[in-house]
Amino acid sequence: MDKPLAVLFDAYGTLFDVYSVGLRAEQLYPGRGARLAVLWRDRQIDYTRLITMSGDPARYRPFWDITESALRYAIQVIVPQAIDDFAPHEDAVASLMNEYRHLSAFPENREVLQALRARGVVTGILSNGDPDMLGIALRSAGLDGLLDHVISADAVRQYKVAPAVYELGERATGLSRGQILFVSSNAWDAAGAAWFGYRTLWINRNAMPFEQLGNRPEAIGSSLRAVLDLF
Ligand code: LAC
Repeated sequence: MDKPLAVLFDAYGTLFDVYSVGLRAEQLYPGRGARLAVLWRDRQIDYTRLITMSGDPARYRPFWDITESALRYAIQVIVPQAIDDFAPHEDAVASLMNEYRHLSAFPENREVLQALRARGVVTGILSNGDPDMLGIALRSAGLDGLLDHVISADAVRQYKVAPAVYELGERATGLSRGQILFVSSNAWDAAGAAWFGYRTLWINRNAMPFEQLGNRPEAIGSSLRAVLDLF
């Protein structure tokens, strides 16, 4: 197979560890932090799909807003009293959203991005995240300047796996889907990108099964370093 000419990375879960909020969640809600983090993430992705599938662009809300709504939902699941009185949880929302703004990046990111740059490969992020939150996350992880493109679904007011979102990667790079490697640790995102026609690498950090939807990623790795095996 030819070497890809560009590599586009998913952001949340792939470059940034969305479960790094679990520690703070555990301090705020002892014994329930891990559950809160999972519920939060699942609801966040569910909401992106609901909004895009509704078909009405007027329902679009930036990923940051959706992330906060999903957190409010998740808190009400783990603390049912919050359904009737959410006020005691407002400080927790502010604190967890602040954590989300500055998520930890996976430790291997920098060397992988630098190695791609040294090989002359075009790099970018292609994410549901809105431009503001992506910019802050990249800066706080010290990764800004290591990516040629920061592409946000916000430009089309739809979320993955809508083809219009993946298409933004072709537009930004001027390359066609078969020349681009899309890297995600979210299996559903790798499946969506493969449907779109990108070459795909799934980073399976937690030894999970791939989506059972009939397609497969071109390659599977256990950390971002697997990208370099394709060059
Ligand atoms: C993203 C989320 C979906 O960055 O992980 O697009």
